[in-house]
Amino acid sequence: MNRPPPDVVAVERSAPGKIILCGEHSVVYGYPAIAVPVSDLRARARVEPAPPGSGLQIEAPDLHQSLHLRLAAEDNPLAHTARLVLAHLGHAEPDAVLTVESDLPIASGMGSGAAITAAAARALAAALGEELLTETVSQITYEVEKIHHGTPSGIDNTVIAWERPVYFAKGRCPETFRIAAPFDVLIAHSGITSSTRGAVDEVRHRWHATPAYYEMIFTCIGAIAHAARAAVEQGALQALGTLLNENHELLAKMGVSICKLDGLVYAARSRGALGAKLTGAGQGGNVIALVNEPALPAVRQALNEAGAIHVWHTRVGT
Ligand code: PMV
Repeated sequence: MNRPPPDVVAVERSAPGKIILCGEHSVVYGYPAIAVPVSDLRARARVEPAPPGSGLQIEAPDLHQSLHLRLAAEDNPLAHTARLVLAHLGHAEPDAVLTVESDLPIASGMGSGAAITAAAARALAAALGEELLTETVSQITYEVEKIHHGTPSGIDNTVIAWERPVYFAKGRCPETFRIAAPFDVLIAHSGITSSTRGAVDEVRHRWHATPAYYEMIFTCIGAIAHAARAAVEQGALQALGTLLNENHELLAKMGVSICKLDGLVYAARSRGALGAKLTGAGQGGNVIALVNEPALPAVRQALNEAGAIHVWHTRVGT
């Protein structure tokens, strides 16, 4: 039986976005990938007490959602998050308002859905006087990612819940790793949103049609992710840039790049980026460019000229 909820206290919690440096898609098939948190772009969740008997109201203005937990559909990600947290804590529905907001672009490969879930789960638990273990946040986020993605590899929930660089392979304990020297990354939004579920399904169909070809691509990308981790650990940025470039070409062979993403990638490289690739599911979303500090303004300008609708700068490893 559920415990009656304790008095709700007003709290706010947040979770970062993420970028996959190497290994998207092949990670779904068990090959390694590396991802890093983007701590300066975050999702935030706030919980405030509400009058007795009002139940849990969920507000997500960025998603144009306003819903009541009791009336929300089973597969609504925010309602599912709240239900999983309450079930985990063994609490009945509290009288509260949960509001989520995010700096992260939606459906663009930066983990916006996972960040919102992680922030909301933490805030709801904290409002009820409990702090969730990071592992629990990661598991709840994984469950909710299934609604968004169907068959998520688990990389997004892991990097976002732990807020550390991760070397991730499905079914293996995620490993964090050291960043020898902070490095600068520009993240450029193509202006095209994409469905991770759609991209993952397309790759799966093509893999079924020509398994040997796709296994070869996945294997190469796995080797790139492995080498990229070593490059990050050694501060070998030139080598890391080359690996990002190679990873992009393989993603293009896999069929998940589009002209706009290729254009952004080539523009960044032509103006001095050490390497550039699409990040996340592809077919839209963002590209990342690894850039030495002096080249940042020129590469940013090149990305803007190539049609990026927004360019963010993040320093990884600070
Ligand atoms: O959610 P996104 O767009 O960052 O993509 C996740 C990366 C994929 O490898 C394509 C899917 C997954 O579950 O790992």
